[in-house]
Amino acid sequence: MLHSAAATTAAAMINLVAVLVSIVVVLLPTIYLILTRKKGSYSKLPPGWSGWPLIGETLSLLMSCPATSMGNFMELRISRFGKIFSTNILGGQAIMSADPELNRFVLRNEMKLFESYWPQHLLKLFGEKNIGIQTGTDVHKQFRSIVVGAFLTASRLQTSFLDDAHEVAKQLITSWKDGSVVSIVDAAKKFLFDVIVKNALSMESGEAETEKLRIEFTKYRRGASSIPMNFPGSQYNRALKAKENIIRIILHVLEERLRTGEDAERNDFIGWLIKNSSLMHEQISELIKGIVSASEDTTSTLISLAIYFLESCPKAIEQLREEHLQAVGSKTQEGPSKLTWDGYKRLEFTQCVINETLRLGNVARFLIKKATTSVQFKGYEIPRGCRVFTHMTAVHLDPHLFEDPQVFNPWRWLSTSGMIKTNNFMAFGGGPRLCPGAEHARLQTAIFLHHLILNYNWKSAEQDKPVANPKVQFRKGLLVNVRSASSSTN
Ligand code: HEM
Repeated sequence: MLHSAAATTAAAMINLVAVLVSIVVVLLPTIYLILTRKKGSYSKLPPGWSGWPLIGETLSLLMSCPATSMGNFMELRISRFGKIFSTNILGGQAIMSADPELNRFVLRNEMKLFESYWPQHLLKLFGEKNIGIQTGTDVHKQFRSIVVGAFLTASRLQTSFLDDAHEVAKQLITSWKDGSVVSIVDAAKKFLFDVIVKNALSMESGEAETEKLRIEFTKYRRGASSIPMNFPGSQYNRALKAKENIIRIILHVLEERLRTGEDAERNDFIGWLIKNSSLMHEQISELIKGIVSASEDTTSTLISLAIYFLESCPKAIEQLREEHLQAVGSKTQEGPSKLTWDGYKRLEFTQCVINETLRLGNVARFLIKKATTSVQFKGYEIPRGCRVFTHMTAVHLDPHLFEDPQVFNPWRWLSTSGMIKTNNFMAFGGGPRLCPGAEHARLQTAIFLHHLILNYNWKSAEQDKPVANPKVQFRKGLLVNVRSASSSTN
């Protein structure tokens, strides 16, 4: 009896515990989700869901996905809440926008209603003096006008960038042996780095200091997409050290120039900065570091993606070949003739391939901006301090804006009256931070493709689809087998 009473009491206790556990495990999260689920009718915030306490929906957003998709996170929420929805990322309120009008509105109003937002670990890595991070409008304006007015100028693009890119690409690409396997990602990175450091610092490929700088930039770049854990030996920690080393190497070049008074003979960016700007030495180093990393990483991804997409579109390769042969007039024994600026300007179909690659491959998938004041848009409130993710990928892959968005179709950019322009295409951002290197990226890509398509055919050596992590990457470096194209182009 005692035993049975005890058993009953124990059973009652077990039931009670079960009820309590159910409350904790099932009910509380449900209540939390209901309370934090923001439907438009309850609040002026866009509809959405805040996810779990503290982490919000950060993990779902960062889940890796094919670069040619907007990812499950966006797809599911857009179908449930619409193109503008609320969420919680990195412990703070956020609004995700797949709406091209909101994206344009946010980017155009940067420095008035919004400012760039960077997670703390990236702020530390890129440095607060970095041009892309500067939020003080005067400093940003000063940096930007120097970059646009003295480095990425039309005249420099037409002369030294064009000539150097031609030389570097020719040397690099024609060194490939017929039938060999090459990593397109590595080749594109090398090409971009060599051209940019030559123009910025007069550093030549193969010299000890250049190779040291290349290694430091590789570590620096890896740190930007690593887990931000700062302990000795971690990738992030190595990147922070690489950042210091990069600054040191650039400062050394600068001091050598000042010591030897060589700057007058050189037509490079650092020489221009020494002679014409009032920037401190550290600022000059930061500026050059920012430009090299902005150029190399993005444009090498663009080149790799273009080559990846083109492989499955032989018709586009043929049309590119014809266009490039027409642009240079002929192909000599030593390889294709040099592309002139006029020739480059005639490469309309090449620009369509570049646009289509950027649309489908999405090198810059989204930007994060923070509201500096409360903003109303389409009946919603974007509260002060809230971050807005302008998701360009979701716009570029929206079937209502781009027909059959998953198909690589460079011809979609052509009309009978020339190239189609649409403000739904925002691969280079917009507003006061619109990428000042866009034309540079297009030129470098066109020149790399020029040498590749007039010299080789290629085929993937291993399956390697681009993934967004959220940075777009080829895990195996896009290995391709190259075959001489001379029989088809001579
Ligand atoms: C495929 C190639 C590229 C893509 C997709 C790209 C994309 C972008 C985007 C989306 C922004 C705006 C960032 C924001 O609003 O916060 C930006 C800014 C910037 N880009 Fe690019 N970029 C590319 C190539 C380049 C190149 C080649 C350079 C330099 C040679 C460059 C230099 C910069 C700089 C300095 C900024 C900061 C501008 C500012 O804050 O005012 N980019 N880029």
